[in-house]
Amino acid sequence: MTDEAARADRGLGYAVNAPYYDLIFPAEARDALAGALRTLVPDARAVAEIGPGTGWFTEILAELADEVFAVEPARIMRAALTTCLARVPHLADRVTVLPEDALTVRLPVQVDAVVMFNLVMHFSPSERQALWEHWARALVPGGLLLVEHQYPQRAEPVPAATVPGRALGRRRYDVVTRADVAGDDLVRWVNTYRTWDGDDLVSAETAEFDCHVVSAERLASELADAGFEPRPAEGVHAWRRKEH
Ligand SMILES: C[S@@+](CC[C@H](N)C(=O)[O-])C[C@H]1O[C@@H](n2cnc3c(N)ncnc32)[C@H](O)[C@@H]1O
Repeated sequence: MTDEAARADRGLGYAVNAPYYDLIFPAEARDALAGALRTLVPDARAVAEIGPGTGWFTEILAELADEVFAVEPARIMRAALTTCLARVPHLADRVTVLPEDALTVRLPVQVDAVVMFNLVMHFSPSERQALWEHWARALVPGGLLLVEHQYPQRAEPVPAATVPGRALGRRRYDVVTRADVAGDDLVRWVNTYRTWDGDDLVSAETAEFDCHVVSAERLASELADAGFEPRPAEGVHAWRRKEH
């Protein structure tokens, strides 16, 4: 596994990405994932969110569940998360932020759902096996594991595209993103975050992320091996921990 928390502490990866994260996340993708949570996780007792980042989905989970465990090892992302949570009393009451890693953290209770959005690409095949086994144990029997559709599905180049982002005051943000093949089932995303003032380019900063590629078929087979069964769902992959 690339240790993204350690890379961020060295000024790489999420250290570059964090100030732009909420400004450039495409609204349709976000709304689709939020809709899936609202359909699949209502009235949960406890849920875990792994790699919550700046906390967009954490806020939604806190509306749907009595208690949320947010597992975020990258200091810079955790700073955004705790700042957002601390300002809203009902979030502060419900969300416990844990700075450990997805493979080592231990929760005080079993959870009804585990949410892993935009995280799985950080884990190699052998680490994914450990990831599924770890979180199967953390779930109550019948509990749900939610993972977004992976892109790309094969290790192939993704041509550069500009994804428009939001504006804050006079400044507007976007990202130019592409992926190069970096190995077997591995791509390197190269993201350049740009800040504009009118037509003037104010700054451009680039972050790179090596990401493991896992097809839907492979995901299905790994999760079946780890004791999960698929549950039909719109917009995400949903898997239920088998009862026995
Ligand atoms: C692309 S962001 C996704 C944030 C959020 N889930 C979303 O979809 O908007 C990936 C997050 O996973 C976290 N992460 C990376 N490696 C991790 C690990 N081994 N355990 C837990 N979280 C990790 C990163 O720090 C980052 O906040």
